[in-house]
Amino acid sequence: MGAEAILQALWLFLPAYVANMSPVFSAKLVPKWSHPIDGGRSRPDGTRYLGDGKTWRGLAGGALAAGLAALGMTYITPHWNLVSAFDFDVDNVGRLRVFLFGAVVGFMALAGDAVESYFKRKSGRERGAPWIPFDQLDFVVFGLLGMLLAGAWVGYDWLLEALLGDWLILTTLIVLTPALHLLINRIGYWMGLKEVPW
Ligand code: CTP
Ligand code: MG
Repeated sequence: MGAEAILQALWLFLPAYVANMSPVFSAKLVPKWSHPIDGGRSRPDGTRYLGDGKTWRGLAGGALAAGLAALGMTYITPHWNLVSAFDFDVDNVGRLRVFLFGAVVGFMALAGDAVESYFKRKSGRERGAPWIPFDQLDFVVFGLLGMLLAGAWVGYDWLLEALLGDWLILTTLIVLTPALHLLINRIGYWMGLKEVPW
């Protein structure tokens, strides 16, 4: 049961993971669309509100990527059902809603990343500086919020059961995700996709 809950958590949160990994790819795909969300504005002390690492491109790309991920999941498993406890009926819900649900989750995951950068800059940490565990957890908390926000589109009964059915599911998201995130960033760094290994 334990291993199944962990798998379930990772599967359930896949759109948020995809969103969180997407900005380095959208940066490579559309390097010219690099408008920073903070519009380049600085605080009175001269430091940036968010910095050049938080772009509209990243936000939009993350929403799109997560929407497509959610949609893709419905084709892999018709009931979004990697493991037994899920009861997500795509035919009743409709694929447009599934896409929009994923897009909101992805948007919120990266909005969380931007909010984190706001506090990171405020605390005097430069763009790219590590700030463990906030770098790793920002998208988890906001991704979960996104699920609750957009849950009406896919059904709260199913969603809350999937999120709260086993304490290991939320625990995995909060504890295992930061560890996984660090591992994946290291791989991204080795592959030359990321500038820093965290
Ligand atoms: N990125 C982006 N738009 C976003 C988020 C990320 O374009 N909304 C791109 C940027 O090129 C960024 C890279 O993805 O440098 C990695 O993202 P992240 O590690 O979150 O940003 P950092 O540059 O480390 O900045 P910060 O210190 O603010 O987290
Ligand atoms: Mg961050």
